[in-house]
Amino acid sequence: MVLADSALAGAKANWKIGRVYNRLVCNACHRQDGGKVVSPMARKKVEWRRYFEAGDHGTGGSANDSVHYYTSRAYRSAIKAENKAAAKFLKFPDAAMSAHVVEFYIHGAKDSDTPARCQ
Ligand code: HEC
Repeated sequence: MVLADSALAGAKANWKIGRVYNRLVCNACHRQDGGKVVSPMARKKVEWRRYFEAGDHGTGGSANDSVHYYTSRAYRSAIKAENKAAAKFLKFPDAAMSAHVVEFYIHGAKDSDTPARCQ
């Protein structure tokens, strides 16, 4: 919980917000860009924590940035004209937006009580 706690900075991470953001922003791109959605069930909780702590976002396609870039306000702002979810969630500070998404991946991890396949 190290990352989640520090990323929260006083706010409570909400996996439901993360789920919406993941579907409409993260996976909107994954669907176009390589054609496969990323599923929380692909990894265990500890592996997702490690993934988001490291922040590396793969090297293929257009994914050369840190995964944290895609939850940043800078990114949300850059796509807000064509992505309603990015516009809607613009109010969240970077750390809070990231925490919601991380919480969603941990909530749906394959060793969680509620594994989530495809969102
Ligand atoms: C601009 C398009 C784009 C956006 C936005 C995007 N991704 Fe990705 N993502 C990719 C591409 C392309 C890959 C495949 C990279 C590769 O295979 O090396 C990828 C791969 C991934 C993977 C799999 C990496 C692995 O090693 O298994 C995860 C997890 C992931 N993204 C998470 C996210 C999350 C979470 C968000 C939103 C906060 C996000 N991505 C937003 C394009 C995007």
